[in-house]
Amino acid sequence: MSRNMTPTDQSECYLNGTFQALAQCQVSVLDRGFIFGDGVYEVIPVYGRRVFRADEHLARLARSLGAVGIKNPGQASDWLALVRELIARNEPDDQCVYIQVTRGVARRDHAFPQGVEPTVFMMSFPFPHIPEQKRAEGVACITAPDLRWRNGHIKSISLLGNVLARQLSAENDATETILIRDGLLTEASASNVWVVRNGRLAAPLRDHDKLEGIRVGLLQELCGVVGITLEFRPIAEWELRCADEILLTSATKEVLPVTTLDGQAVSQGEPGPVAAALYKAYQEAKIRQSR
Ligand code: PDD
Repeated sequence: MSRNMTPTDQSECYLNGTFQALAQCQVSVLDRGFIFGDGVYEVIPVYGRRVFRADEHLARLARSLGAVGIKNPGQASDWLALVRELIARNEPDDQCVYIQVTRGVARRDHAFPQGVEPTVFMMSFPFPHIPEQKRAEGVACITAPDLRWRNGHIKSISLLGNVLARQLSAENDATETILIRDGLLTEASASNVWVVRNGRLAAPLRDHDKLEGIRVGLLQELCGVVGITLEFRPIAEWELRCADEILLTSATKEVLPVTTLDGQAVSQGEPGPVAAALYKAYQEAKIRQSR
C-alpha cells in the first residue's frame, strides 16, 4: 500500500457489529484468518461518496463465502447499509471499502469449527488515484509462472501466491506481474489482464484459475457501448508478447494500459486507442452508475 492509501489510526472501521477507530480494532490471534488465511474479502470503489457496482461486489462476496462454506452474516441490503455508514464516517469523497469475513475464532484445528460466528471487518482507505502522467505513459509489467492454487475464482484472503508474484514486479520497478500457466495467460497478481490484437479485445476464459473481476462484466458492457469486439478465449503467452495493446483492470487501477512487458515495448510502447476508449467509457459509467 502506498502512503496515501494507508488508513490513519483514526479512520473509522467496523468490527463485529461496532464502528470504532482503526487503532482500537482488535482480533484474537486465534482468528482463523490469522492462523489459516481462512476467509474471503472484497475491495469496493467509492466515488463522490457513492458506491460503484455495489450489487456486483456484494454478489461476489456472497459467492466467495458460499464457495468456502462460511455463513454469510448478512443480506446484500445489510451489507450495503454498513458500507454506506462506513463511507459516511470517513473523510475522503473517493474511498475504497475493504470487507473481510473470516471463519471466526477457534482452537487451531484445520477442520471447520462448529458453532463459531464469522469475524466481520471493514475499513476504508482513500481511493489511490493513479497520477495522470502515469496513465498517459502506461505502465511496465513483468511475467512469471502462475504458481497459485486452482481456486483463483474465490476472492480468498490466502494471498501468499499473489503476494510473492507482486513482489517480483515491485523488485523490478513494475506495476504488475502477469501470470502464465501452461502457456496461457491467467491474470495478474491483483488485476485482470486484457489483450488487443487487430482491433479486437480478448480476455481469458472465465474459469476457476482466475478471479472474475467486477470490471470483467463491466468492460463487457462498455465494449457494447463503444463498439469494441470482445472475445473470451484462451490467450497464449506468445499472443501477449505480440499484442497491439495490453490492459490491466481492477477496482483501484480502473483501466490501465501496459506499455512495456518484461522490458520490451508493447507495440509502439504507447497506450493504444482501445485502452483510451474504455477508460473514457469507464469514467462515464462511474458517474452514471455509482449510487
Ligand atoms: N484485487 N484478479 C485478482 C487476483 C485480484 O486481486 C483483483 C482485484 C482482480 C480484479 O478484480 P476487480 O475488478 O473486482 O477489482 C483480478 C483487489 C483490488 C485487491 O486485492 O486489492
